Amino acid sequence: MTAFAEFERVVRGLAPAAAVVLGSGLSRAAAAFREAAAVGFGEVPGLVPPTVPGHGGRLAVGHWGATPALVFFGRLHYYEGHSPDVVAGPARAAAALGARRFVLTNAAGGIHPNLAPGELMAIRGHLKLIGPDAWRSAGRAVREPYAAALLARMPELLAGVYAALTGPCYETPAEIRAAREMGADAVGMSTALEAEAAAGLGLEVAGVSCVTNRAAGLDPAPLAHADVLVTAQRAADRLAAVIGRLLASDLASVGA
Ligand code: HPA
Repeated sequence: MTAFAEFERVVRGLAPAAAVVLGSGLSRAAAAFREAAAVGFGEVPGLVPPTVPGHGGRLAVGHWGATPALVFFGRLHYYEGHSPDVVAGPARAAAALGARRFVLTNAAGGIHPNLAPGELMAIRGHLKLIGPDAWRSAGRAVREPYAAALLARMPELLAGVYAALTGPCYETPAEIRAAREMGADAVGMSTALEAEAAAGLGLEVAGVSCVTNRAAGLDPAPLAHADVLVTAQRAADRLAAVIGRLLASDLASVGA
């Protein structure tokens, strides 16, 4: 039996209805997750190993609190040189393994004045400033991928707009001023392609940004990847609670 076939056997036994993608430095949010089995991304059909520090590149199954769940530790980014199809691989893998809900998390720069480092933002929409469209592979364009029913489960968080840029370098201050004028509340380099693909596959989608820094030009301190990872860890407990709530809530009319 291959590593993936063995993993799939455990998945079929636990029958998780939801999957979580944990982004940059956010794996500590999984403290409440009890892992039953895991495989490297390289073992999963349609996935490739990631190349970025802080991204484990493991797909696990187990229980998040009392809820069976799939957890992607790490993700695949467009800036790593992957096609939109490959970036959307975790959404397809989650759907193929039976998930009907897809919870995306990311590390982001805060643009909205209330989004200081350590704050969480519920994503209510995005500006996809990464060029290509993941929905081509999913076959259906979903222009409002974030499920209202799941947004309603995060009433304490600012519900904002996430601007997805290609990366991998941080934005220029001028780009951040432009993004703010366009309505962006936070900025990052992921999530939009995956969210559209997942919604196109009929999954119920939620997105949560963990603000690790003020976006470029909004704070005098220079940005460094190491700072991003440290601040992301601090918000992990709050993020874990939000994810637990999203996973445990009843499925809406998913796939209808
Ligand atoms: N910009 C883009 N991506 C990010 C940032 C940022 O400021 N912080 C964490 N991920």
